[in-house]
Amino acid sequence: MTVVELFEQKDLFETRLMEKINNRHYEPYIYTYPPKGAFRPNTDSEKVQQSWRTVRGPISLYLHIPFCEMKCSFCTLFTTVNQPKELIQTYVKALEKEFEISTTLMKTSSITVNSIYFGGGTPTLMTFEQMGGLLKRIKNKFRLSENAEIGLEGAPNSIGDEKIREIQELGFNRLSIGIQSFDETLLRNMGRHYGAALGIETIKKAVKAGIPNVNFDLIYGIPGQTFGQWKAHLETAVQFGNKTITIYPLVVRDRAAYGKKYKIAPEKFLTPEEGQKWYDFTLDYLEQNDFSQHTLVTFARRGGGNQHEENEFRGLPTLGLGAGARSYTPNFHYTNDDYFEPMSNQKVIERYLAVLGGGRIPVFSGVSLDEDETKRRYFILNLLFKGVDERDYLDRFDEAPEETFGYAIYVLRKNGFMEQKNLQLNEEGKKFSSVIGACLFSEAVQKLNIRYK
Ligand SMILES: C[S@@+](CC[C@H](N)C(=O)[O-])C[C@H]1O[C@@H](n2cnc3c(N)ncnc32)[C@H](O)[C@@H]1O
Ligand code: SF4
Repeated sequence: MTVVELFEQKDLFETRLMEKINNRHYEPYIYTYPPKGAFRPNTDSEKVQQSWRTVRGPISLYLHIPFCEMKCSFCTLFTTVNQPKELIQTYVKALEKEFEISTTLMKTSSITVNSIYFGGGTPTLMTFEQMGGLLKRIKNKFRLSENAEIGLEGAPNSIGDEKIREIQELGFNRLSIGIQSFDETLLRNMGRHYGAALGIETIKKAVKAGIPNVNFDLIYGIPGQTFGQWKAHLETAVQFGNKTITIYPLVVRDRAAYGKKYKIAPEKFLTPEEGQKWYDFTLDYLEQNDFSQHTLVTFARRGGGNQHEENEFRGLPTLGLGAGARSYTPNFHYTNDDYFEPMSNQKVIERYLAVLGGGRIPVFSGVSLDEDETKRRYFILNLLFKGVDERDYLDRFDEAPEETFGYAIYVLRKNGFMEQKNLQLNEEGKKFSSVIGACLFSEAVQKLNIRYK
């Protein structure tokens, strides 16, 4: 690159970044790269199998359980409600089959699994036998690393005493509980039909039972929620002795019930300025109460964390199983879902089952990563997490991070977002981490990236 080109690159990056920050143009939370908006139709299951062939070392497993027994007003995750028990059973059998086919060409003896995550939807709707059967297959095929995290998420009304006992017996060491709110009226407003006391009780029970890593999710900016109420939520949140809390700003999408509500009564929702004020308060409050910020949305007490998240941000290969799961191999990311031509979740599940019935890996969209995108993935995700390790970057790519990302490092330091002594975002930088990440997307990915409603 010539000196002139380098100056142009710095200028472009700085202009883009500061425009977004000054105009309060906030970007969605980034937890992977390329984003799903860059996926395009692709049914090359041969490519999928080949791209796993060369993988060695630690990987993550993600199992998507797309079933819920309530549809929340804010949620556009890939889920379906009130499905018969038989369908869940058929689906779990399909997951087992997908696992067997996907691992056929892997060099399983050279791979260790250091995180297994059952995500959803509401995985706690699964039976003991269903969860146990899946874990058994995984353990039969792979060595688990010594401190492997085995986690699942669930809603309070599907985590009774019996479920806690079962997941402990199965060896789960992390449970993430979707609390959303400690307030009865707000819960009802969100379409969550159980009492607020149940959420508190569930957290207490999980901690008391000795599950080593209990997390819960809260959402702020729910229509009708006051700042005073949110402060009270935070005061409650820090009292349980669990290691991590995940705090999401309400994301309003057209497809969700709140999307329709927003069109009629936008004044009931936070403005970006209010959202920033609430977020800043949250950061300060949690820091004063011994939680440090890990990503834009996750907070942990000393020694706390989450292996699955760490793996995502470290860019480990992930084998995703299930109708809406994404898989990340070093050079190809893929999913059974098709973001480009969306269809109903029910249909995607039916197609998933049908393709597996035919003995093939269900893949319908994906994105390939060349060397530049691989570097970008590494740089962006590590920057947004605990910082880029210069030594590790050099070992992997045979060049210093400055060679490709010097323009960004210069601009981030100049504007007070990055430490001078290392490649970590400082407190100010962390606040804008999604905007910073989005400005680092390659031109190709920026062009491809479609925003989902
Ligand atoms: C799979 S759910 C967690 C488990 C369980 N299904 C539940 O809701 O209790 C994942 C989390 O994503 C968050 N989430 C989903 N949609 C959201 C949105 N539109 N805005 C903010 N957070 C959202 C919620 O906090 C939710 O707990
Ligand atoms: S928030 Fe959880 S329970 Fe509610 S619809 Fe989404 S995944 Fe299901």
